[in-house]
Amino acid sequence: MSVLCKHFGECGGCKYQDISYKEQLRQKEERVKELASLSGIDTQLKPINSYDNWFYRGKMEFSFSQGQCGLYGSKEKRKVVDIQECLIFSPDTGKILKAVKDFVRSKSYSSYDRFSHQGFLRNLIIRKARFTKQIMVGIVTTTRGEFDRQGFVDALRGLSLESQIKSIYWIGNDSLSDAVIFEKKELIFGSAFIMEELGSLKLNIGIDSFFQNNSLGIGDLYARIKKYAGLEGSERILDLFCGVGSIGLFLADSAKFVWGVEVQKEIVEVAWQNAKNNNINNISFFFSDVRRFLNSQGAFYKDIDILIMNPPRSGLSKKIIRAVLRLSPKTIFYSSCNPSSFFTDLKGLTTNYKVDFIESFDFFPHTPHLECLGVLRKNN
Ligand SMILES: C[S@@+](CC[C@H](N)C(=O)[O-])C[C@H]1O[C@@H](n2cnc3c(N)ncnc32)[C@H](O)[C@@H]1O
Repeated sequence: MSVLCKHFGECGGCKYQDISYKEQLRQKEERVKELASLSGIDTQLKPINSYDNWFYRGKMEFSFSQGQCGLYGSKEKRKVVDIQECLIFSPDTGKILKAVKDFVRSKSYSSYDRFSHQGFLRNLIIRKARFTKQIMVGIVTTTRGEFDRQGFVDALRGLSLESQIKSIYWIGNDSLSDAVIFEKKELIFGSAFIMEELGSLKLNIGIDSFFQNNSLGIGDLYARIKKYAGLEGSERILDLFCGVGSIGLFLADSAKFVWGVEVQKEIVEVAWQNAKNNNINNISFFFSDVRRFLNSQGAFYKDIDILIMNPPRSGLSKKIIRAVLRLSPKTIFYSSCNPSSFFTDLKGLTTNYKVDFIESFDFFPHTPHLECLGVLRKNN
């Protein structure tokens, strides 16, 4: 297969581009088989599901370094590769990046250095809603200088793009961490959110909300969960690590009631707005850490029929696993983007549950990443 992206080999982004897509899928299936066997989980492994393998990503986080704006390299991990195109994100990437680079150069802004912690420009976040073609841009700087907000907005709004820029933020971040911390957040153009459509559901996405990176794939995953749950309208569903509420909102029209739990206050507020915007009334969201929620309020939710869990890459702590076993829902849908923690956690749940089947989803073509769904039923 010919290598398609001009940055392949240099950029640390997608390392599998020189492997045919069919072979990528075979290798991912093989990995799932190996992990299942290592964990001693004997269950049906359904064939991997795949979607568009180019321009699928919903969010990119570029870094500024030494006058460049791009992604950290695959060989020189300390060096940012200046990116001009990204075939897994959007055909608009090059135009947006060029406009940003021209603008910051015209202003002679310095780049932040993550070792000396000196400098001004830190990151550029671009989000894209695949189905509505809306784009959100966020520029992250330290607060040790004045950023020309209007100049930045003008530079971006003048672009002729395939998608439409709906929202622009300036974010102030003086933290020493390499991660983008939203210490200050200012909307400098347009609406506070972009909107994505999953089926008939309209979901707001904020600059700092978690949202699954592959909208086409996630719509399919949710539709499958709905089908496998065989909802009849009487089910009580608990959606742990619910983010902006998407899975619960997707299931709510076929269930009795859904509760969602999320640790970030601003994301919980977006989840409530999403429920309101979609006229969904049989759902409620809790701003809480999952472990605290299960230990303090879990007792009130004893009659949960279906538990949905979609934790961050680190997976579940032993305490959460024990609390889930105490909660004892009839069925668990556990999905994760980290197959290693996924299998460890499933193993922990097998004391009281049988793994009915595992299904994998290639949400991240040309990268080693993979989403897995496990369906667990309570032992009699
Ligand atoms: C992988 S995302 C899943 C979001 C959502 N289920 C979806 O599909 O869009 C994990 C979410 O869990 C939240 N989270 C992380 N740790 C948490 C905790 N200890 N308690 C509650 N929520 C947590 C994060 O803020 C994030 O929104």
